[in-house]
Parts: sequence; structure tokens; C-alpha cells
Amino acid sequence: MVILDGKTLSLKVLEGVRERVAKLERKPHLVVILVGDNPASRIYVNNKKKAAEKVGIKSTVIELGLEVTETELLAKIEELNQDEDVTGILVQLPLPEHIDKNKVVLAISPKKDVDGFTPENVGRLAIGLEPYFYPATPQGILMLLDEYNIPIEGKEAVVIGRSNIVGKPMAQMLLKRNATVTICHSFTPDIEDKIKTADIVVSAVGKKIVRCKMVKKNSCVVDVGIFRDSNGKLTGDVDFDFVSPSVGFISPVPGGVGPMTIASLMFNASKVYQ
Ligand code: GUN
Repeated sequence: MVILDGKTLSLKVLEGVRERVAKLERKPHLVVILVGDNPASRIYVNNKKKAAEKVGIKSTVIELGLEVTETELLAKIEELNQDEDVTGILVQLPLPEHIDKNKVVLAISPKKDVDGFTPENVGRLAIGLEPYFYPATPQGILMLLDEYNIPIEGKEAVVIGRSNIVGKPMAQMLLKRNATVTICHSFTPDIEDKIKTADIVVSAVGKKIVRCKMVKKNSCVVDVGIFRDSNGKLTGDVDFDFVSPSVGFISPVPGGVGPMTIASLMFNASKVYQ
């Protein structure tokens, strides 16, 4: 069994981004918008800011209080779309309930959409065109699989979870790489049967779902989940101790997908479109 070391690869990717940014004539400027007081979001946004500093990408965090209206947020995004100094816009999710997330995503210019969440980028991926940006988490996962030379073409892949942030784009990106892809979710009966036949499992659910004896021998298991267990310990969707002995490759939590997501986002943020 080989551990997919996201921490080490993320440092390598970030170094590559840093070198690339240093040579750029037009400097990237990432603007991250944080609305409200979600503590987890605040940590994620801080990590993004720190990573940007490390690779020489200018970043600005705009903090908006819970009282901000949808109209005001949309106006802010439009201002950033028009601002030639700003090359990337990221609105941290989730948003407070009074703001329609889809309206916000629709407002971001596709060429500044470093998350790859806008319909143009999602649609480009779906019809086989190159999007301006691929969503950071699935892109980071593919970087990790490629680093370890894990074959994708012709393989059976199971994606657990169908979020716009991870599950759906992950499935599209695996499909683009010629895997046979199954998406499982809360209405899928017998998820275990699907996992058992998969060469690649990507789990993005947020609860312990991939357990003992569920996985195919020598398969590759990627754990996107991150949450605290009843003892307060950080853990993922996969029961690592029971699953790891029989697999070929497995990503740990922490130190797997998390650092890759940030590195992949920085890779995106270093891209500058005219
Ligand atoms: N919230 C959790 N993950 C993400 C992400 O990748 N992008 C944004 N904007 N918000 C998130």
C-alpha cells in the first residue's frame, strides 16, 4: 500500500507556481470574498491568503458582514469583474441563507472564476472544451493520481457525493480521462456493491462511509472528507486503518486532498486571462 502524500506534492506544485508567477509580466491578483462568520470558512480563506503570499500572488480578502444584501454582493462582484487589476475572484461558500449562491456564481466573470464554478466553465468541461479553470479539488486529486502514475483510462471509477464543488466536476474530469464513472449519493442503494468493483474511489461525503472490506484489492482510494470524530480528532470518509491494508493507494486525512486543493487553487490563481 502506498500513501498518496498530498502534503509533499502540494509543496512541489506551489514551488512550480511560484516560479511561474515570478516570470509573469501581468501579475495575478486574487480577490477572496468572505461573507458572514462561518469559522471553518474563515480558516479556509486564511489558508488561501497564506498560500497566495507564499507563491507571490497578490491577494485581497474582502470580509462582508452577515447583513450584506444579495444586491450589494452582486454589485461588488461586478465591480471586481470590471477591475483590470483583479485577475481572480473567489466567493467562499457556503453563503448565508438570504443570498442565492447560484446568482452569485453566475455573476462571476468566467475568465476570473478561479473556482471553475460558473456555467461557462462547467459547460466547457461538460462538452469537452477546455474550461478557463478546473475546480480546485478535483484538479488537485488528478495531480495526485498522475504523480503516482495511477492509470485512469479504461478504469472503473466511483465518485461518492454529487456536489458542484467536488463530486460532479470530479466525475466529469475522470470521464474526460476515459474512465467509466459511477456517481453515488444518498439515494444510491447498495453503494458497497459499487465500491467493491471500483479501481478508483473518490469519496466526498463528510461522514464515515468507506469501511472495512468494501474496497477492491489494489484499488486507489481518495478521501476528500474532513471532519472531527467524536473524540475531536480530524478524520475523513474512509476508515483508514481497516481499508488501507488491502488497497494499492490511499490518501490520508489530513495530508492528502486538503493541501492539494490549496496548491491547485494557487495554480488556477496564477493564470491570467486578458
Ligand atoms: N467551500 C468549500 N470548498 C470551496 C471551494 O472550493 N471554493 C469555494 N469558493 N468555497 C468552498
